[in-house]
Amino acid sequence: MEKKYLFSPGPTMLPSEILLKMAEPVMHHREPEFEKVFAEIREGLKYLFQTKNEVMTFTSSGTGAMEGAVSNLLSAGDKAIVVRGGKFGERWGEICKAYKIEFVPIDVEWGRAVDPRKVLEILQSDPKIRAVYTQASETSTGVRHPVQEIAEIVKRFENTVMVVDAITGIGVFDIPMDAWGLDAVVSGSQKALMLPPGLSFAALSDKAWKFVEKSNLPKFYFDFKKELKNTKKNQSSYTPAISLFIGLRESLRMIRKEGREAVFRRHERLAEATRRAVKAIGLELYAPDSPSEACTAVKFPAGIDGEKLKALFFERFGITVAEGQEQAKGKIIRIAHLGYYDRLDMIMVISALEMLLKEMNHPFELGAGVRAAEEVLMK
Ligand SMILES: Cc1ncc(COP(=O)(O)O)c(C=O)c1O
Repeated sequence: MEKKYLFSPGPTMLPSEILLKMAEPVMHHREPEFEKVFAEIREGLKYLFQTKNEVMTFTSSGTGAMEGAVSNLLSAGDKAIVVRGGKFGERWGEICKAYKIEFVPIDVEWGRAVDPRKVLEILQSDPKIRAVYTQASETSTGVRHPVQEIAEIVKRFENTVMVVDAITGIGVFDIPMDAWGLDAVVSGSQKALMLPPGLSFAALSDKAWKFVEKSNLPKFYFDFKKELKNTKKNQSSYTPAISLFIGLRESLRMIRKEGREAVFRRHERLAEATRRAVKAIGLELYAPDSPSEACTAVKFPAGIDGEKLKALFFERFGITVAEGQEQAKGKIIRIAHLGYYDRLDMIMVISALEMLLKEMNHPFELGAGVRAAEEVLMK
């Protein structure tokens, strides 16, 4: 018998409480029963995003909400800043390009966090910048960007909004949207929300909603104004992924029961245990200065091929970890700890890593990683 385990930073493993709810017969989305579900979800999402404003839910993967955060906030001739420190930062640039929005990239070395001063320099020198696009957590490199510091800068520019892809940030670490003055925050279902892929989320500040009023870029499915109007009536504009909404209600209940702060502490602890274990095995972190609590990117010495190691994880143990993408291909693996993970999950994946590294003749003391993790997890 072989079990399967997902340790990729999305999709992630799902709790049976949620799976069972999603297996219930599909209800109709225009019935009062569904409106009740919708109303509860609205409240739960406000709690999770830490905002007084509505959080819109779309039936799409996370990229859909990212696209909406370009097509609804900007107008022809506007310019943007794009923080590009990994694959998802690059995606902001690709979306801007698709909408013919000129952007100034801030190219950050993979594995490093952006320097907020660069954002300030560009904003001061280019008055046509209307939006700053960044990630809270750049999943491809395991980096956490200094979103709060960037937001402090953007706040000073009344004609510019701060847009955050928090697809692996929301529900992982503290991103108080209103308190930090973030103008748009987007997220997705298959990460810390413990759901399958298929839902994306977008929340906007009052300042950002004014940008939406002026925006003249083409839009249809991801029309924020239309979606907001329907959201306030506990409706979605088009047929939603009903079963995922039912799962979402359960997920938000679970998060509320555990408590937002407890959820953040759990992620912090699992991330810390994983990082200590990796170092105890004699490996380096790909993002040593500003690691994300969503996933740990592990760098390998020359003799170890990350792609081969990823394949062995699945062959030997049924475990899916994520490999490196583009320039990090073959050089790293990424181990997730966002969403439905607990202490012993991390012990399992670290133990599997140790057994595979022994097989690949990496020199270290067997058990060193597990011990280092246990020392963090027992506290
Ligand atoms: C930070 C970040 N942004 C964007 C995406 C893209 O989301 P999706 O694949 O759901 O469209 C991901 C997915 O891994 C992500 O981690």
